[in-house]
Amino acid sequence: MNYKIKTRLVNKKDINAVKIVLSDWLSKKEVIYYTQSIKDIISTSLLKPKYDGHYYVAIANQKIIGVAGFRMPLPKLLKFASTKNPAELCMLYVAAKHRGGKGVGTALLNHVINQAKKRKYKELIVRSAKKFKKTGWGFYDHMGFNRVGELLPPDSKTISQVWSKKI
Ligand SMILES: CC(C)(COP(=O)(O)OP(=O)(O)OC[C@H]1O[C@@H](n2cnc3c(N)ncnc32)[C@H](O)[C@@H]1OP(=O)(O)O)[C@@H](O)C(=O)NCCC(=O)NCCS
Repeated sequence: MNYKIKTRLVNKKDINAVKIVLSDWLSKKEVIYYTQSIKDIISTSLLKPKYDGHYYVAIANQKIIGVAGFRMPLPKLLKFASTKNPAELCMLYVAAKHRGGKGVGTALLNHVINQAKKRKYKELIVRSAKKFKKTGWGFYDHMGFNRVGELLPPDSKTISQVWSKKI
């Protein structure tokens, strides 16, 4: 397969394809939750989206193979920030058969970074649940994010790792 990867803003017609990508990694409940947050953003004014949320897709051979997004950080993440203007990388998933060295995640992350910079954000914070330790954590280390702490939500036994990168 030719991996000429394009990235662009998500739109309504992408939702089903996005669901398929997310289903490789998330439970049904999580897929519904995440796609709903994308739908909410698409349906709000583009000038002032909810929580300043922006979502993007990666496409190769006319097929959506990845999805990523950023937003204003959840309040519980602010203590990990080292600048006054952090954004949160709130989603980054590449379809299982397209991940791992083909450059899709890098293309999405670069797109997010460029868009976040345009909106004057100075830092990208990301949290990732332990279940992604093997498939995701190494990517953030590799892409120059620094591990800045761990998050243990009161309602869960699952620790999330938190990273930050100045942009
Ligand atoms: C994490 C993820 C988005 C990265 O996207 P990707 O398309 O696999 O990444 P790329 O192909 O752009 O990889 C870029 C570099 O990072 C490396 N890399 C990717 N995933 C890695 C991992 N888990 N551990 C170590 N290195 C990794 C690649 O080998 C590549 O190295 P190179 O620059 O020397 O070629 C993707 O693997 C994915 O969707 N993983 C499963 C879901 C997940 O864990 N998401 C994160 C949840 S928060």
